Amino acid sequence: MKHLLKLERMPKEVMLHILASVKGIKANRGANEPKPLNSQTWAMIFTKSSTRTRVSFEVGIRELGGSVMFLNANDMQLGRGEPIKDTARVLGRMVHGAVIRTYAQSDVEEFANLSKIPTINALTDDEHPCQILTDIFTFEEARGPIQGKVVTYVGDGACNVPLSWVHAAAALDFELRIAAPKEFQPNSEILAKAKGNISCTEDIKSAVDGTDMVYTDVWVSMGMESEEEERLNKLGSYQINSELMRLAKPDALVMHCLPAYRGKEIDEDTFEANAETIFTQAENRLHTQKAILTWLTS
Ligand code: CP
Ligand code: NVA
Repeated sequence: MKHLLKLERMPKEVMLHILASVKGIKANRGANEPKPLNSQTWAMIFTKSSTRTRVSFEVGIRELGGSVMFLNANDMQLGRGEPIKDTARVLGRMVHGAVIRTYAQSDVEEFANLSKIPTINALTDDEHPCQILTDIFTFEEARGPIQGKVVTYVGDGACNVPLSWVHAAAALDFELRIAAPKEFQPNSEILAKAKGNISCTEDIKSAVDGTDMVYTDVWVSMGMESEEEERLNKLGSYQINSELMRLAKPDALVMHCLPAYRGKEIDEDTFEANAETIFTQAENRLHTQKAILTWLTS
């Protein structure tokens, strides 16, 4: 049984296989596409909000021949205290696969173990694996192999998105620099375990110097709303703007997983100047989800 739970545990060959298949899937959209999910029904169980992940999986599952049901976790008995382990054993007897967005990574893992159906992590507090696979595809589509390149992540370096970048860097041999205040850097155990060419610094300028890509995410991730004021204060100087971008390579890409908060993690002008890349990145969520679903069901 295959699952996509974390990049941390995804073998390099699987990452490369998924990344290599996105191009063809994107090019052949709507043209006699294979239907590996034919006769299948997939459940999407979301405890947190979503635009891109929800729409890309719903459209992707349908385009691969499957049916999909979106389940807001709060409308399920799950929201009234039914345990994950029971929800998993019920759904596992009815649907063919599950896409889950929630807080605790352990909930997705428990669901995968007990449901015995292919399970995808659509974002937890620990990782956002589908996003980073898309981001790497988008980088490579524009600039060729990411191996040997430099990616700089600026902002909240301890949330799910940079943590998935850490595991991708270790597997795919590119340099990852994280520019964040000390308390928003990934914990040292995660970095030591990942063993990649990864550095963390509070010095945003040195992190961006000569880089091939500058990436950011929101400063206040879902579930962190009570820390909003403190985060805005502490992360205020970690903004991507035109002055910062002058330090990167002249053709450096700016990427953002979205949603974007202009004037916070990125300024309006830099966002709009890079909108083509950022919305191609968003579109590529669809093609990458289809590659993930195809791999999971093969
Ligand atoms: N980037 C991303 O996962 O967006 P959503 O929260 O809208 O799904
Ligand atoms: N780090 C963000 C990602 C949103 C796609 C969050 O968890 O809210």
